[in-house]
Amino acid sequence: MKTLVLIGSRRKNGSTATKAQQLAHTLDPSGQQTTVHFVDDLKVAPCCGCNYCRKIAGCSQKDDAEEVIQEIIGSEAVIIASPVYFGTLSGQMKILCDRLYPLYRGGGKSLISGKKLYLVYTQHSNCDTYSEVRKANEDYLFRFLGFDLVKTVVVGSDGEKSY
Ligand SMILES: Cc1cc2nc3c(=O)[nH]c(=O)nc-3n(C[C@H](O)[C@H](O)[C@H](O)COP(=O)(O)O)c2cc1C
Repeated sequence: MKTLVLIGSRRKNGSTATKAQQLAHTLDPSGQQTTVHFVDDLKVAPCCGCNYCRKIAGCSQKDDAEEVIQEIIGSEAVIIASPVYFGTLSGQMKILCDRLYPLYRGGGKSLISGKKLYLVYTQHSNCDTYSEVRKANEDYLFRFLGFDLVKTVVVGSDGEKSY
């Protein structure tokens, strides 16, 4: 399965990268159709809130976020993996997610309706901690953008939980 992996930790051998790549292996065992990006290796400026994407397709800012958007559109599955920082996504992952706003076309329409999404969170706390934050991200960010959330995996100090 053509899989795009976006990792919001800069620790290349950390728990977020490890779990994300394990999951990617189950979706694409050969790895030949898998693209992995560490968000820190990309040039992605914060959303400037100009609303260009609300009026015209695309983004006013020309950087790697545009390529990520095209890669999401061209993938069959996307894995978004982040360490939990202060209860939610890491800053670099949140900046990238803000830049995905062009995917949403208004009125419930999206360029990626039904795109399979797998979320991975790693955290020091127990797996059940921050469930309300994850739910908010699932509903107001990822499903809002049009993703079909297949599974969320949480790795915490008491092991691993999926739902
Ligand atoms: C700035 C910062 C904030 C963090 N905030 C939390 C937190 O709110 N809750 C938590 O359980 N762990 C927190 N952690 C721990 C990380 O989520 C945890 O160690 C994670 O697995 C690191 O992933 P990595 O190995 O990919 O870097 C924080 C770590 C850092 C560096």
